[in-house]
Amino acid sequence: MLIILLGPPGAGKGTQAEKITNDHNLAYISTGDILRSAVRENKELGRKARQYMDEGKLVPDDLVVEIVKDRLLNPDCRNGALFDGFPRTVEQAVFLENALPDLDVKIDRVLSVEVEESELIERLTGRRVCSDCGANYHLKFKPPKVRNVCDQCGGDLYQRDDDSLETVKERLEVYKKQTQPLIEFYQKRGLLSPIDGNQEIEDVYKQISSILGEL
Ligand code: AP5
Ligand code: MG
Ligand code: ZN
Repeated sequence: MLIILLGPPGAGKGTQAEKITNDHNLAYISTGDILRSAVRENKELGRKARQYMDEGKLVPDDLVVEIVKDRLLNPDCRNGALFDGFPRTVEQAVFLENALPDLDVKIDRVLSVEVEESELIERLTGRRVCSDCGANYHLKFKPPKVRNVCDQCGGDLYQRDDDSLETVKERLEVYKKQTQPLIEFYQKRGLLSPIDGNQEIEDVYKQISSILGEL
């Protein structure tokens, strides 16, 4: 099974991905997480990507496509995979479409999580992330049990560099220009399922579960 989570920054892709991968035994492929860890570990990829990420711009397609090619060869993808934050441009989507027949897989569903812009800004500026396991929290909407400590692994929570108000606004503009066209791209292919992301985390997951249950 191959599922794509599409949606603007702050829509709740990472939050829902955690639940989906737990319940469906899918490999989790988040290009954002892979890029952030490359930055943290000061790898060549991280050095190339950092400035784009800090400015809220997209990292060039050729770098991202290399990450995905590599990741799809990992044996954990044999049972299927969940993409979070990829593809993000029409070029990336075309690459994926062309790469899949060789791997003998097809896209089963594209879940397009839709959320109001004012809500996105509040979610992103209040987000905290675990520095060890990557779990997502929110100061107001999903606070950890102990302040600044991850419920799942005890790791420290931090604020992402790109979650400042200024960078959030840029990311939302970039989304509209470069990623939103993918909604029509996948609609035309009959793969798109819109998800109302303006609800409580559990209610969003209920919609997703019922769609995945029908596959
Ligand atoms: P990436 O890491 O993919 O970030 P993003 O797409 O901007 O999305 P976010 O992770 O910010 O949001 P999310 O939808 O996962 O929301 P979350 O669940 O955390 O990309 C980062 C950067 O990397 C890009 O800007 C780009 O530079 C680069 N990059 C990555 N992939 C790329 C690609 N393919 N091509 C080129 N460049 C790429 O939720 C947000 C907050 O809201 C949390 O605090 C959460 O607790 C809370 N929350 C979640 N759901 C709810 C709810 N229902 N109600 C209330 N609060 C909620
Ligand atoms: Mg995310
Ligand atoms: Zn953690």
